[in-house]
Amino acid sequence: MAEATAFYGRFAHTPSRGALEILDDTLLIIDSKGTITDVLSDSDVDFQKAFDQARASGELCQSGEKSLFLPGMVDLHVHAPQWPQLGRALHLPLDEWLNAYTFPLEAQFRNADLARSVYPDLVSTLLANGTTTAVYFSTIHMEASQVLAEVCRDAGQRAFVGKVVMDDPDQCPDYYRDSSTRQAIDETQGFIEFVRNLSGNDTDLVQPIVTPRFIPSCSHTALLELGRVADQMDCRVQTHCSEGDWEHQFVYERYGQSDTAALAELGLLQRGSVLAHCNFVSPTDMEIMKSALTGIAHCPISNAYFANSVFPLRRALDIGVSVGMGTDISGGPSPSIFENARFAIAASRMLEEGVDPEIASASRGHPDSRIDFREALWVATAGGAEVLDIPVGKFEKGRHFDAILVDHHAATDRAAFSNSTTSGEDFVQQTIYNVSQSDIRSVWVNGRLACNA
Ligand code: GUN
Ligand code: FE
Repeated sequence: MAEATAFYGRFAHTPSRGALEILDDTLLIIDSKGTITDVLSDSDVDFQKAFDQARASGELCQSGEKSLFLPGMVDLHVHAPQWPQLGRALHLPLDEWLNAYTFPLEAQFRNADLARSVYPDLVSTLLANGTTTAVYFSTIHMEASQVLAEVCRDAGQRAFVGKVVMDDPDQCPDYYRDSSTRQAIDETQGFIEFVRNLSGNDTDLVQPIVTPRFIPSCSHTALLELGRVADQMDCRVQTHCSEGDWEHQFVYERYGQSDTAALAELGLLQRGSVLAHCNFVSPTDMEIMKSALTGIAHCPISNAYFANSVFPLRRALDIGVSVGMGTDISGGPSPSIFENARFAIAASRMLEEGVDPEIASASRGHPDSRIDFREALWVATAGGAEVLDIPVGKFEKGRHFDAILVDHHAATDRAAFSNSTTSGEDFVQQTIYNVSQSDIRSVWVNGRLACNA
């Protein structure tokens, strides 16, 4: 697949939550900045001329039979240094997993050579799985965090990269802790400036994000200072929020209020910020997020292992909080947002129906909790874009062209697809339920080809 400035064929996207739009025989024109300048259907008067021009230029990319363009996936929550331990030690509770496995691994990134060997593989794997935007936690180390930003720039992935702050001696081990609160704050500022001045990053494809790991790992002073830095430097924030019983309780004991309310008071709920998990947030917490224009990274697979409950996704969406999808690598053992989207649907069904057959069906579950494949696609694309407040996730004029071409011929021609109808919502639903990395033929970020299988 060569570089293209026009795309023709079948597109599917979610213009609003719950709505699926399939655009057949449609032409998208992309300008040199990677922005969609026209969406033309073959009945538009301008269509034929634009199509002929695009074809003559040799820069027209077409979807074929049993293939379609989808918006690129948005992964709101990735721990980059945890890539080498994908799928390891998931039998442990979160605090034991952090202390026995995760902190020792992350501490090794003090040697930036490890970052140079691990991060390119992570970023290219996420791209190959269709993730065009990723929001990363790195580690507490400046050089390794810089490497991650450079790797994303070089791979052409839209990314938000955060240098992690963990400065509280009561909670963080000696071998993996910021040497002082002051240094943690200064380095956060230094890292924001580094990413903003990164050469070859003129389109701001890679952006910094202020990253207190979570309230338990940070001193009160660090949290306050990071809120001030985010405000003054106009920078998004990411952190974990009310993930499981332990974290939720810890914050109540320390601040006498919920994680969300405490983060709001600390100035950490900035526009476009990301709170990971949020399993134990109340409707009041959701209203706080909504008014702060801060959203949620829903990490359904990870939640099954570490979060002690199912996140009430449908309730959050009904309240109007922005929600996107997160893999939470390596709390979640999959690099695929599609796999997380499928799991989100299944988890929501379990929440609705209940899970214990010993309880009578009428009182077993929570009514009105389910989402369907259309809402899952929304959360995985446009919902994540809404959380970050960036113009991607839909095939609309004015948005960046971040997209994937799913081609069911690219992989083994599975029976489900060779016998299936090639039109309508069924095809999109089958795609969402079946797609794997080998079906993703090409990936574009900002109109540029970033991966070609
Ligand atoms: N809470 C604090 N750190 C982490 C982490 O690395 N993974 C998850 N799932 N939760 C966390
Ligand atoms: Fe996490």
